[in-house]
Amino acid sequence: MPLAPLPDRQRLMPDPNAPSGFRFVVEQALSSGGFAITYLARDAQFNDRCVIKELAIDQLMVRSGIAMVPLPGCADEMGVWIQKVQNEALTLHKLRNAGVVQVRATWREHGTAYFAMDYVEGIEFPAAPMPGVSWATWEPVAAKFLVALSAIHQAGLIHGDIKPQNILIRRDGNPVIIDFGTARSEGDAKKTRLTTLAMTPGYCPPELAVRDRAREMGPWSDLYSWALTVMGLVIRHRGIDGSPLEASARVALEQHGVKHAGIGAETESALLEAGMSEGWVQALMACVAIKPGDRPRSAKDVTAMIDKWEPRAGDARMMPSPKIPDAPAAVAAREPLEPARRARVPAAFRASQSLDEDFEPPLPPSDNLELAVGIVKMLFVIFVLCFVLIYIFS
Ligand SMILES: Nc1ncnc2c1ncn2[C@@H]1O[C@H](COP(=O)(O)OP(=O)(O)O)[C@@H](O)[C@H]1O
Ligand SMILES: [Mg+2]
Repeated sequence: MPLAPLPDRQRLMPDPNAPSGFRFVVEQALSSGGFAITYLARDAQFNDRCVIKELAIDQLMVRSGIAMVPLPGCADEMGVWIQKVQNEALTLHKLRNAGVVQVRATWREHGTAYFAMDYVEGIEFPAAPMPGVSWATWEPVAAKFLVALSAIHQAGLIHGDIKPQNILIRRDGNPVIIDFGTARSEGDAKKTRLTTLAMTPGYCPPELAVRDRAREMGPWSDLYSWALTVMGLVIRHRGIDGSPLEASARVALEQHGVKHAGIGAETESALLEAGMSEGWVQALMACVAIKPGDRPRSAKDVTAMIDKWEPRAGDARMMPSPKIPDAPAAVAAREPLEPARRARVPAAFRASQSLDEDFEPPLPPSDNLELAVGIVKMLFVIFVLCFVLIYIFS
């Protein structure tokens, strides 16, 4: 079938087998960060909703209509990132872990790289305690989150931006890690230049936030962020707006002789009071050590620390799924993009459709024409029938 013309340009990934000539139809931009733009889309191949990420690094490229073009002197680096995105999509695809979002396609188009992944229906990981929801509910979620992180590390990747906004919890209580835009292979982590992309104040480990010592990064860097994310389920952090204390503030406090730099004995007793076992508290506290060398080396070591006190964490996958409290779905609860962020989204992808609208795959133009002719024929037959009936009975 010839490629359909593009009446609207909300389509991505040319695919002659798809009814519209393209596999994906963009519905709405979900977010626009310094590294990528995230879209909610429809997948004509699987006939369901999916999420697409478009590589868009401000320091390297600029939007020109629907395309991305490299800034002067940045073409090579942009090429490297396009390749990286595709490699990582491939690694994630191979990972096939229930706790990691499933990638379904990666391709190059409009001068940049895209990848499409499953749409995860659920809530965002809470960044602060939810009234009435205790640690007993969250414990299996936190343990399964650790299992997923372990699978990522075993595949040789470091996520690099673990935080509540990058973890979704499915309605069945299973956490799913998303947003691998800043993920890198362990070897790569030691030499990646654009490491500042990964920074999310509070959750970012000191080796990245303060000393920018990318070469000290390892699984323990994700574990730092994981521990702070998990603590936030039951305690309100002491940083701005209840987020964790920024790593730079912690390092400064430590240099001024404050032991454990803002996350110490007080945090420990608050966690115990919230109902966490000794094992969990010890493991989480070890993960938030300022020096990378003082933290557990791997997710397995963390599990062992928890198990030492309470032999349950190792069976995270067997843990019953908790009843997740009612909260608006992550996507439905999103605020519209602010004007500055929206400006990065090409006009062609700005249209928004209702989230609840049932998806009808777009028909190719020839099918539309056939449908219209069919309707006219049917109306004509009805009209003639009515005429005959009126004639007979009058
Ligand atoms: N696969 C997905 N399923 C459902 N929602 C998603 C998915 N990927 C992203 N989102 C939503 O879009 C938001 C932004 O996506 P993310 O990949 O984290 O991009 P950013 O780089 O802008 O942080 C997420 O916080 C989440 O609410
Ligand atoms: Mg994110």
